Parts: sequence; structure tokens; C-alpha cells
Amino acid sequence: MITGAARGIGRAIAEKLASAGADLALADLRNEDLAATQRICQSHCRRIIASAVDVSRRGDVDAWVEATVRVFGRIDILVNDAGIADTTPFLDITLESWERMLTVNLTGTFLCSQAVARRMVEENGGKIINVASIAGRTGRPLAAHYAASKAGVISLSRSMALALAKHNVTVNAVCPGITDTPMWEQLDEQKARLFGLPKGEALRQAIAEVPLGRAAMPDDIAELVLFLAGPKADYITGQALNVCGGLDRD
Ligand code: NAI
Repeated sequence: MITGAARGIGRAIAEKLASAGADLALADLRNEDLAATQRICQSHCRRIIASAVDVSRRGDVDAWVEATVRVFGRIDILVNDAGIADTTPFLDITLESWERMLTVNLTGTFLCSQAVARRMVEENGGKIINVASIAGRTGRPLAAHYAASKAGVISLSRSMALALAKHNVTVNAVCPGITDTPMWEQLDEQKARLFGLPKGEALRQAIAEVPLGRAAMPDDIAELVLFLAGPKADYITGQALNVCGGLDRD
């Protein structure tokens, strides 16, 4: 099961897991892009379903989990990738924007994880992988709400790992750095407006800080997700692992 599968990192994860032989249950709000991901993955995997799901709505999430169990019988892997981001100076963050960020990024991860973990506990096994961010470790002057939501995802991952270990369910967080996706295109546009920069300049400045000298490609993140989802990662749980080209070294 993969949320946020319509584009960016989520689509790359879907392609990677499909190529490794997984059946897929994809979820997102963007129906057209989600259908495109489904088409891309279809040739690689045996069975695939795609559902319109808002991860912040319990009814959507429960219906998606039920549909997945109906089709596949069980759930082995959940990847919580769906997320939103936004560039706003701390003093200008509205309560509405704060609540939306926390609701999608953190509550969405909680809702999907809890609903799926109930099934995994019954099956005595499973792997949950949450896409957090290095922003959740380091903070962000222009995205305090985003960074707080991702710090919450890292903390939730650790608590779930402890709560579910006795049921053979592992939970880990993956923390990407700057990754070349539509989300960064949107952030670049917002920063351009805020600081009067030409298009692409904010991204160029951010990449200049990366020791490896480039943005991550979505596939760089998907590789780690594939590893964490597989049997070679059976003894890894409660970790937050960076894929950030050396940006954050904690
Ligand atoms: P993206 O914006 O390209 O893709 C995110 C996907 O999540 C979209 O398809 C969107 O429709 C979906 N989504 C958003 N809200 C949703 C909701 N309420 N219900 C269901 N689906 C929803 O973003 P990208 O870059 O692929 O990001 C994926 C994850 O990686 C996010 O959690 C993001 O915070 C995280 N991340 C991204 C980084 C980057 O530089 N692009 C860096 C660090 C973390």
C-alpha cells in the first residue's frame, strides 16, 4: 500500500516495488496522475488497484484498507508518502495553514498506519515505512509547520516501532533531502515570489548546499524504501534514515 503514489517520490516507490514483484494498492487525491502511475506499474506487477483517498479522512483511509484486504487478502507493506509542503516565514504562518500541514502529514500517517497495523498484527508481521524529511531533524526557518509535522512523523515512527515490535511489525522513517519532484517546483515558485528570484534560482541555491552537489532523484529515495520493505531489513526498526546527499549528518 502506497499513499501519495500519483507523482514524485510516491510514483518512484510504486515503480520500484512493482519491479520487485509486489502487488500494489495505490492511493492519492490526484486521480489522473494516479491513473498514470497505475499504467506505468501495470506491466511490472501481477495485481494493482488505485483508489482516490484523502489520507487525512478516516472514512477514506478505512475504505481503502478494506478494499485492499478484499482484493489481496492481506497487507505486507505500507508506505506513507503522501505529504504537502509550503514556504511561509514563521511569523506569517496562519492557524489554518498550520492545522492543514499537521493534518495531512502527521494525522494522515497516523490514520493509515493505525488502520493497516491492525491487520498486520492479526497476520503477525509487516513493514511500515514513513516518508519524513531531514527538515524534521534540522528545522526550517521558512517552513516551521512542515518541519514540525515531519519531526512528528519521525517520533510517531519510533513509538509505533516500540508498540508493534512484539507483533513482528517493523516501522522506520526515511528522511529525504532536496528531491527533484513537483513539490520542489512548487517550493521554488513560492521562494521566487517571496524573494524576487528568477525561476529555478531557489532550487539552485538549495542544491549548492548539498555536499554531493545534486538533488536526489525520486529513485534514490525509492531504493531505500525497497530495502526497508524487504526481508534484508527484518532487524531494522525504529530508525530514521537520511537520503540527503550529506546535507544532514546527524
Ligand atoms: P509531490 O507533491 O510531488 O507528491 C506528493 C503526493 O502526495 C501528491 O501526488 C499529492 O497529491 C499527494 N497528497 C498530498 N496530500 C494528500 C492527501 N491528503 N491524501 C492523499 N494524497 C495526498 O511531493 P514529493 O516531493 O514526491 O514528496 C513525497 C513525500 O516526500 C512527502 O511526504 C514530502 O514531504 C516528502 N519529502 C519531499 C522532499 C522533496 O524535496 N521533494 C524532501 C523531503 C521529504
